[in-house]
Amino acid sequence: MDTEITLIVDGHRHTVKVDTRITLLDLLRNRLGITSPKKGCDHGQCGSCTVLRDGRRVTTCLTFAAAADGSTITTSDGLRGEDGSPHPLHRSFLDHDGLQCGYCTPGQICSAAGMLAEAQAGWPSAVTPLTAATPALDADEIRERLSGNLCRCGAYQGIVAAVTSVAEAQGLAGP
Ligand code: FES
Ligand code: FES
Repeated sequence: MDTEITLIVDGHRHTVKVDTRITLLDLLRNRLGITSPKKGCDHGQCGSCTVLRDGRRVTTCLTFAAAADGSTITTSDGLRGEDGSPHPLHRSFLDHDGLQCGYCTPGQICSAAGMLAEAQAGWPSAVTPLTAATPALDADEIRERLSGNLCRCGAYQGIVAAVTSVAEAQGLAGP
């Protein structure tokens, strides 16, 4: 069965008819040509398909496109400034060698952006700090909070360094 949905993706409005069984990931990649979210496992296990949906990180392979009707989606590409300038996380991943092949990188960056937004918001109740005594973002906390995003190249040291650097710049790092 088809249904019509409207989404805003990286600032652009899309109204499309979709099969109710199609995932948001397949809609983005195959119908809209937005390939920044990557298909790794297609089973919610790797995080490479992560985007921000209304500001919160979601795995698009586990989200039906129809269920995302009316949402605002931000991919890693959409985190760039209005003038096309890179987001601080983009720069930091380059500066700290937070990638090798780059396949997991857009998902890592979206997940990190979502985590930093959660911290900026004072950790909404649904995402309370994992370590109550040290809610600030130290390396252990960052590792835990990004643990849904796998990197087959094993670039974790650079990834954590890159995110820590941005957290520090935003006054969110700890202890
Ligand atoms: Fe979605 Fe792996 S492709 S979690
Ligand atoms: Fe290759 Fe992460 S950089 S999978």
